[in-house]
Amino acid sequence: MKKLLALAAMLAAITCATSAAAAPDAAKVEKTYSTTCLACHGSGIMGAPKVGDKAGWKPRIAKGKPALYLSAINGVKMMPPRGGNPGLKDDEVKALVDYMVAKSN
Ligand code: HEC
Repeated sequence: MKKLLALAAMLAAITCATSAAAAPDAAKVEKTYSTTCLACHGSGIMGAPKVGDKAGWKPRIAKGKPALYLSAINGVKMMPPRGGNPGLKDDEVKALVDYMVAKSN
């Protein structure tokens, strides 16, 4: 019986760890945003759509998320690929776009 309980506890721990890894880490996204994207998207320099500027984001959001993901990953005009941070994975860039859009919608 004790062994069974230990096994159940272990399984629960594994399940928790997996779901924590799958859930987007909001704090991490926010931190990466401040270190990588805020420089341009906080102030709106070089024509970057300012985060929180709903009117500025409206026509971009209208293009659909997949188009925005592509722009953020590949770059567009003065927007450098991955915001100039080649270490970011596609999923991380997408989470950053989601974060910016959620704040500007
Ligand atoms: C060096 C400045 C700079 C940095 C850093 C930067 N951006 Fe941009 N971003 C821009 C500019 C400028 C535009 C507007 C491009 C244009 O003319 O359409 C833009 C546009 C965008 C758009 C809209 C693209 C579209 O298709 O309308 C998204 C999404 C975006 N950036 C995401 C990000 C993310 C995510 C980061 C951080 C990983 C980031 N940007 C970092 C300058 C920057």
